[in-house]
Amino acid sequence: MSLLLKKHPALAWIALVVFASLCSLAVVWAQKNHAPAPAAPVAPNEPKPKPHPVTIKPGPATPRLDTGLKDPTGQPITAACSTCHSTTTPNVARNSAHDLFQAHRGLDYAHGSLTCLSCHNAKDYDTLHLADGRGVAFPDVMTLCAQCHGTAMRDYLHGSHGGMNGHWNLAQGPRVRNNCVNCHDPHHPKFPLVRPVLPPRDRISVPTGH
Ligand code: HEC
Ligand code: HEC
Ligand code: HEC
Ligand code: HEC
Repeated sequence: MSLLLKKHPALAWIALVVFASLCSLAVVWAQKNHAPAPAAPVAPNEPKPKPHPVTIKPGPATPRLDTGLKDPTGQPITAACSTCHSTTTPNVARNSAHDLFQAHRGLDYAHGSLTCLSCHNAKDYDTLHLADGRGVAFPDVMTLCAQCHGTAMRDYLHGSHGGMNGHWNLAQGPRVRNNCVNCHDPHHPKFPLVRPVLPPRDRISVPTGH
């Protein structure tokens, strides 16, 4: 044997290569016949936790007129809007509050050139109304704002107008959104221009000149 190897040293290399190939074949065969691993236990299809709700604060309660009088217990006496307005003739042309003298004196009104009855419902003063005449309860006033201010409403729905409280991640907690009228007075919705103020004085890096 050793004599043979001495005569032909290449034989040793051939034997080595054959041995190595047999080994790798054996490994492949063993892997093929290996019993499949027991399947991982399938988790029961648990329902995902429900996201918390997004609530929009309701609009104002149906207003009543304060008569300025007090009942014997000291509570203010108020009257439903329809008390008087079921007998008055609705003034569909009114778009200003300057000349209100019989009632609602001093109302601060500036909302484009809208007439009062673009919002208030001439058929029932205890409600508002949409452009198609459908009544809207005061707490649902946002539907009415949205009908004329589509862009603002779109921005509101995107979240870039109107602010929020609570959680960005609804998996962690609920979110509360403001109503349009929490910020805008329906009779005077425009915000006054903000006057810029002087920046804080920089007392460290700016040379004072003296
Ligand atoms: C005490 C009676 C009385 C009550 C209560 C009353 N109003 Fe009036 N309202 C009037 C009178 C009178 C006018 C007309 C004012 C004028 O011409 O000087 C008027 C005018 C108006 C107008 C202008 C349009 C129109 O028809 O002339 C609106 C809008 C209005 N009222 C809404 C309301 C709402 C909302 C309430 C409830 C918070 C209410 N009113 C409660 C007496 C009343
Ligand atoms: C853009 C819609 C809109 C217009 C236009 C409008 N109102 Fe109103 N008005 C409302 C809403 C909303 C409320 C409820 C606000 C609240 O209770 O905080 C209200 C409340 C009232 C009230 C009862 C509360 C109060 O402030 O005394 C009176 C009175 C009233 N409006 C009269 C008028 C009159 C008069 C005009 C026209 C000069 C007018 N409104 C125009 C939406 C409107
Ligand atoms: C019937 C249509 C109509 C309804 C309803 C209405 N608006 Fe307006 N709104 C107008 C018009 C018209 C103007 C004036 C636009 C202008 O001057 O460029 C205006 C102006 C405004 C402005 C000032 C815009 C500015 O350029 O600064 C705000 C804020 C506003 N409305 C908010 C509201 C809110 C909040 C409601 C609901 C309570 C509402 N509006 C309901 C038509 C409407
Ligand atoms: C958190 C307070 C807040 C809420 C809620 C809010 N707004 Fe505003 N809105 C503002 C402020 C502040 C401005 C003035 C921005 C400026 O002057 O640049 C404004 C501006 C506006 C304007 C005039 C400028 C524009 O973007 O066209 C309109 C119209 C308007 N809002 C309508 C609405 C309506 C409709 C809703 C309800 C869907 C609403 N806003 C809810 C604070 C609010």
